[in-house]
Amino acid sequence: MRLAVARETAPGETRVALVPEVVRKLTARGVTVLVERGAGAGALIPDDAYAEAGATVTEDPAAIWGAEVVVTIAPPAPTDIARMNAGAVLLGFLAPLSSTATTAAARDAQVTAFAMEAVPRISRAQSMDALSSQSNVAGYESVIIAAESLGRFFPMLMTAAGTIPPAKVLVLGAGVAGLQALATARRLGAVTTGYDVRPEVAEQVQSLGASFLDLGIEAAGEGGYARELTEQERAAQQQALTDAIKGFDVVITTALVPGRPAPKLVSAQAVEGMRAGSVIIDLAGETGGNCELTEPGETVVRHGVTIRSPLNLPAHMAEHASQLYARNVQELLGLLISDGTDGGSASLRLDFDDEIVAGACVTRDGAVLHPGAKAALGAA
Ligand code: NAI
Repeated sequence: MRLAVARETAPGETRVALVPEVVRKLTARGVTVLVERGAGAGALIPDDAYAEAGATVTEDPAAIWGAEVVVTIAPPAPTDIARMNAGAVLLGFLAPLSSTATTAAARDAQVTAFAMEAVPRISRAQSMDALSSQSNVAGYESVIIAAESLGRFFPMLMTAAGTIPPAKVLVLGAGVAGLQALATARRLGAVTTGYDVRPEVAEQVQSLGASFLDLGIEAAGEGGYARELTEQERAAQQQALTDAIKGFDVVITTALVPGRPAPKLVSAQAVEGMRAGSVIIDLAGETGGNCELTEPGETVVRHGVTIRSPLNLPAHMAEHASQLYARNVQELLGLLISDGTDGGSASLRLDFDDEIVAGACVTRDGAVLHPGAKAALGAA
């Protein structure tokens, strides 16, 4: 069985779907691994390292897209998906809720497509949870960017020249990225506060040495995610946050609702209320941003406050982000592939009675199976 690692083509994408360590594990299981020349360059992994791990490095796109399994990070171009064989497997962040062109291309090519973001978030699938592994990178990186952007210390300093109070950091949205941001900010010495609409998060926030900001709005939705707030709840939340935000040096926002525009948590008025020199890092830029004044992908200064909305933060730390992602892929492949015996070749073994396999599957045999992808395609 041939498994190919495609070179990413999305602008700014530096990560690679497999690293040599995982290639070595797959080849040991009887998988023939092909790597597109230069696939690891953005993550500083040379072609030679893949070759040493047992992969064949190739320049030939037909060989890559003709493999039985193709693994990627971002959704490939529909023209590349169209080159895949019927029944072949495509695995990556395929954005089933938003990238309808990807879903349509996979359906039309009769490809069996698995989206990493659709892997059910159950305990058995934790090691395959690429949303979490990449959110951890984003949460960490957001704090590093905040610290670099802030003209103030994070830790408290007691020096002969006087005492500097610690920075106050507020994290809005305490999912995986938010919790990592709280942990990282505290390690740097900041005094931390977390906020979320899922009530069960309070304990997790406090376990990281942060205070929990309780605004009395609860909005737990399906599958452990938040639901969208009603108009009334949204107005009440914005008002309460406008008052709370004033006292913070840094606000990091990570609030997302699957398949919906990012909730606007930080109003223009809230930004105006912050002390000049304060910093907002908005991680929700890809879906419009959590701050009214955010310009996705840009750094702007409004009312003296620096607002940064870096896109695709995991790509800023390509080496570790790729390493973690590759492990997630390896674990998921473990469910999809049966080992070659006696040195023979491995083969695909798709068990759609397994809730992880079924849940992650977006298209199969020319049909769209993922409910969210189907709805998005219908609405397009
Ligand atoms: P996410 O990236 O979808 O959203 C980030 C955070 O924003 C969430 O905590 C969400 O509640 C919050 N949020 C949404 N709207 C908001 C609003 N209006 N105001 C304030 N906060 C708002 O979330 P993520 O990080 O993907 O986590 C989602 C869920 O998945 C969580 O329940 C998490 O515990 C769970 N999870 C489960 C795993 C497992 O059991 N295998 C692994 C990782 C996460």
